[in-house]
Amino acid sequence: MSQPQQPMTHLLADYRPYPFTLKATALEFHLASQSTRVIARLSLVPKADAGGQDMVLDGGSELELRALTINGQEPDPRMVMREGETLTIRAAALPAEPFVLETEVQIDPSANTACEGLYISGGMFCTQCEAEGFRHITFYPDRPDVMAPFDVTIHSDKPVLLSNGNPVQREAGLARWQDPWPKPAYLFALVAGDLVAISDSFTTMSGRKVALNVWVRPGDEDRAGFAMESLIKSMKWDEEVYGREYDLDVFNIVAVDDFNMGAMENKGLNIFNSKLVLASPETATDGDYERIEGVIAHEYFHNWTGNRITCRDWFQLCLKEGLTVFRDQQFTSDMRSAPVKRITDVQALRARQFREDQGPLAHPVRPDHYEEINNFYTATIYEKGAEVIGMLRQLVGEEGYRKALDLYFDRHDGDAATIEDWLQVFEDATGRDLTQFKRWYTDAGTPHVEMHEDWNADDGRLTLTLRQSTPPTPGQQDKPPRVIPFAVGLIGPNGQEVAATRVLELTEAEQSFTFDGLGARPVVSALRGFSAPVILKREIDDATRAFLLAHDSDPFARWEAGRDLALSALTALAQGRDGGEDYVAAIGQLAGDDQADPAFRALCLNLPGEEEIATRLTASGVTPDPDAIHAAREDLARRMAEAHTDLLAGLYDSMVVKGPYSPDSDSAARRALRIAALGLLNRIDGGDRAEVLFGIAGNMTERMAALSCLIRRGRGQAALTAMADQFADNRLVMDKWFAVQPMAAPPAEAAAIAARLARRPDFDWKNPNRFRSLLGGLAANHAGFHAADGSGYDFTADWLMKMDKANPQISARMSTAFETWPRYDAGRRAAALAALNRMAEMEGISRNLREMVSRMIA
Ligand code: PHE
Ligand code: ZN
Repeated sequence: MSQPQQPMTHLLADYRPYPFTLKATALEFHLASQSTRVIARLSLVPKADAGGQDMVLDGGSELELRALTINGQEPDPRMVMREGETLTIRAAALPAEPFVLETEVQIDPSANTACEGLYISGGMFCTQCEAEGFRHITFYPDRPDVMAPFDVTIHSDKPVLLSNGNPVQREAGLARWQDPWPKPAYLFALVAGDLVAISDSFTTMSGRKVALNVWVRPGDEDRAGFAMESLIKSMKWDEEVYGREYDLDVFNIVAVDDFNMGAMENKGLNIFNSKLVLASPETATDGDYERIEGVIAHEYFHNWTGNRITCRDWFQLCLKEGLTVFRDQQFTSDMRSAPVKRITDVQALRARQFREDQGPLAHPVRPDHYEEINNFYTATIYEKGAEVIGMLRQLVGEEGYRKALDLYFDRHDGDAATIEDWLQVFEDATGRDLTQFKRWYTDAGTPHVEMHEDWNADDGRLTLTLRQSTPPTPGQQDKPPRVIPFAVGLIGPNGQEVAATRVLELTEAEQSFTFDGLGARPVVSALRGFSAPVILKREIDDATRAFLLAHDSDPFARWEAGRDLALSALTALAQGRDGGEDYVAAIGQLAGDDQADPAFRALCLNLPGEEEIATRLTASGVTPDPDAIHAAREDLARRMAEAHTDLLAGLYDSMVVKGPYSPDSDSAARRALRIAALGLLNRIDGGDRAEVLFGIAGNMTERMAALSCLIRRGRGQAALTAMADQFADNRLVMDKWFAVQPMAAPPAEAAAIAARLARRPDFDWKNPNRFRSLLGGLAANHAGFHAADGSGYDFTADWLMKMDKANPQISARMSTAFETWPRYDAGRRAAALAALNRMAEMEGISRNLREMVSRMIA
């Protein structure tokens, strides 16, 4: 039985370098499902300035230590102590000269359900070591600033044996790999299984030929081609845009079915959740294809931003993640439509990061304390971390950014670096002082920017007054002003731009900026391109918003005007007032504008989700009522369909993509617009179109859209049965099947539907994807998860408690479904709090879930 673990807070301020230098790591694995032996030979040198310190190694309490020698000799057993998750060797037993520490441990991969360390997925051995998984494989200084070249020998009769680096030896039952690039343990990986590869090659800019493989289970080969194409595009892009070349002879990608996250950038051996590798038109949606391309790129880009330059400690996680997300966003903008990418990134940021920042789990981009690092792989570290880099790039300009990045790679290659190092290269390359800018890293919370306009007709002068303030977040009461790049343009009464985009730099709590020489009062296009992750408040009426939606030349600001119009209607309707006239009229104009990009029109036709409406209401001091929000959104969608039936039906018919399916962005855009029209028409055609489409669609994008429409009309049963029959053996499709039902269900039935699905034999709950599908599907049904009777909360809490015993990373991450609980009415708050308390009091609760729940209750 697991011991009750005491809360243990790690502080950034406590950082100390490791007192030994690790020169080399040699590992020998004897793989067997229940008793794997791992022999580790560490070549160590005591640091001169750290003489006389004990050596502390990390190692899970489940490691069975079978042997330990120093330079081949067994030390006095009193010199070696095991305590909790560490092994300490007394200084007195350690040579003052370089020495070799050898350990042998035995572990049981078959008992490992946490998908961390060495585990088994579908009969294959695989590893996951970020952040602190390596300590469940062997005793080691498991921290990112301890780096070494690795030499790995695998003994196993599995046909395919992989590790990091280059292959140097292969014979029956044995493979040896050497990775010359010093790396921390979190980038270690090993795979052993019955796998097949699709293979290709890439010639780097200096003319080296790299062998590329995407490894999948036999039978999945025909669904791995898109991943390979994406890899080749990524390698080329990183050379062209960042001048970064790949540095080993091989690059391997492996798809595994049981994986806690999306994918992992292990050096030369990326391991992926199979849903981010496998795709065919019959099984994957356009969204899946786009995500695969983006995540393949993300993991590949980590080779430089993460691996060659890694993090000094886990507080610096955003150093690699924020930068790598920023880079994969740039890549996707280059591969697809840049405006559409920006808009969808902002949507995601608001849905996940703003939500996090406004609640009890708010934390800075660079946190200064944590209990469990796995709880900090968050939207704040990743997505806000990327936004901060985007702001930096605007402030120093494209050229300055390029110079700073070159300096970063030059100066820090091989280092375990910090955010201070990162900012320093920008200061050195551009001469700009970033002292105030650094607050974006240290201060949590989303700033509010209020914009006030003063028009002086006599002088033709517009004065903009901007005020910034950031609400308190847990542990941070006062928020001094930040540097905010605020992009604005001006549009004349005839719709022509009269002042091109100008980036105003806010540095104070309140500042004014003037625009002169204007003939007539212009309309301000504010926060163009979403130049900073802030909440903008301005005095503006619906007519002006409609004007911006019609005329703004900045695609983000134009979309935002439509969004604001929709939200102003929806928040009014949700409070029992009238609204929506202007929006319904304006949207007709835009949907019928054949000059506009179909993807953009689709984005404008999709109403904000219920969660977003709730967030908007909360921000204006109103307690959101989930049922009223649901009704308001349904009402507005129906009115859109009624007002524009012919137009929408015309789009639905004309946006058909002819010929064989292709996931390219133009085809995907047409399908997106078609589906947006379908979703609205579905409110008035009883589901007839969806039923036809489900029967004939040759691709998963349209099939899933049709299925979701049918469920919303209460006529999904036949389609669900057909899909389950057809795809019973395809986990990824069945994951979608599990997710869509609670998601599209009428709110009052959502929890009961989820509970019924959870009783099916194919609800393989220990599979992270399956679990996330069902619980995530329910959580995505806003009014269903927040059902007034507490059924959504109870169902979720029951399953989180069950999952916590098997896989604490998953229970902790999924617990964020509760993070908005304080904003609802007293009845819902009481029900949510009861569920949270039940989890908090659970015997043997993991450190992961305990930290999350206690932060939410605090
Ligand atoms: N470092 C991975 C990524 O962002 C994410 C990850 C974290 C995967 C922890 C597994 C475990 O690319
Ligand atoms: Zn990453």
